[in-house]
Amino acid sequence: MTSSFKFFHSSPFFLLLILHSATTTLSQTTAPPPAPPGPTNITKILEKASQYTILLRLFRMTQIGDQINTQLNNSDQGITVFAPTDNAFSALKPGSLNSLSDQQKVELVQFHVVPTFISISQFQTVSNPLRTQAGESTRYKFPLNVTTSGNQVNISTGVVDATVANTIYSDGSLAVYQLDKVLLPMRIFGPPAPAPAPEPKKAKKESNAGNDAPSSENGSVSDDASGTVGFNRKLHGCVNGVIVFMAVFCL
Ligand SMILES: *[C@@H]1O[C@H](CO)[C@@H](O)[C@H](O)[C@H]1NC(C)=O
Ligand SMILES: *[C@@H]1O[C@H](CO)[C@@H](O)[C@H](O)[C@H]1NC(C)=O
Ligand SMILES: *[C@@H]1O[C@H](CO)[C@@H](O)[C@H](O)[C@H]1NC(C)=O
Ligand SMILES: *[C@@H]1O[C@H](CO)[C@@H](O)[C@H](O)[C@H]1NC(C)=O
Ligand SMILES: *[C@@H]1O[C@H](CO)[C@@H](O)[C@H](O)[C@H]1NC(C)=O
Repeated sequence: MTSSFKFFHSSPFFLLLILHSATTTLSQTTAPPPAPPGPTNITKILEKASQYTILLRLFRMTQIGDQINTQLNNSDQGITVFAPTDNAFSALKPGSLNSLSDQQKVELVQFHVVPTFISISQFQTVSNPLRTQAGESTRYKFPLNVTTSGNQVNISTGVVDATVANTIYSDGSLAVYQLDKVLLPMRIFGPPAPAPAPEPKKAKKESNAGNDAPSSENGSVSDDASGTVGFNRKLHGCVNGVIVFMAVFCL
């Protein structure tokens, strides 16, 4: 945050905005910012940290490395990058990366980039799901959830659970965190989203956890026949989901 202070000094409005939205008081006790030499360069940072050659290759291939540098220069929000190590990439099933289309590779890399600066302590107050540059964070697209315990930060995609192992870089505008796993997005590596059922409306997909009360979405309770059909559909979808889920893990 400190260098953003410096940055916003000339713009009182943004300073106010930042102060207003900050959850913890940004007191005047913050240390003076270390002057970064030249513009921040994610490529340089990861090269210096070593063990990120595969991520660097993906950054180059997708041009997202350049985009991050440009965004850093042009945006007030900052950026957070989750950087899986080479070991993390090596731990993927063979062919996982190669089988992706160019578009999917872009999405995979974008999924590791959050368009705001998040310090380690700020992870404790982020609201899930976190929105990444891959876009929609809904259940079957690109959800990313953070759980914390003290300074320990875990990240779940619904497909993998990763742990922030280390802070590689943080200057109040760019944060780069070492991850022990590649963040595999639901959209690419998860089960396919269920096709929307045409007739029966199942308004809230999430709400079928408590199975005793057959909640009527409409207010009026469905009659026996349609209720049974609805239930069978749900059961069927559930069984299919389990099969797909098992297949993903057994293959
Ligand atoms: C960032 O660093 C890389 C490698 O150190 C260099 O090739 C690239 O030109 C730099 N980009 C910018 C915008 O300075
Ligand atoms: C950063 O932004 C300034 C003005 O917005 C621009 O003049 C400069 O060329 C940019 N630098 C880089 C490395 O993109
Ligand atoms: C994070 O994940 C590790 C390993 O899976 C686990 O031991 C730990 O309890 C998790 N911590 C939180 C805060 O979820
Ligand atoms: C992420 O958190 C949201 C909100 O708490 C929850 O609805 C969702 O199921 C979680 N998803 C994953 C993959 O953990
Ligand atoms: C539920 O509402 C829809 C329109 O919102 C209506 O067409 C349908 O007949 C209603 N079903 C019941 C069982 O009331």
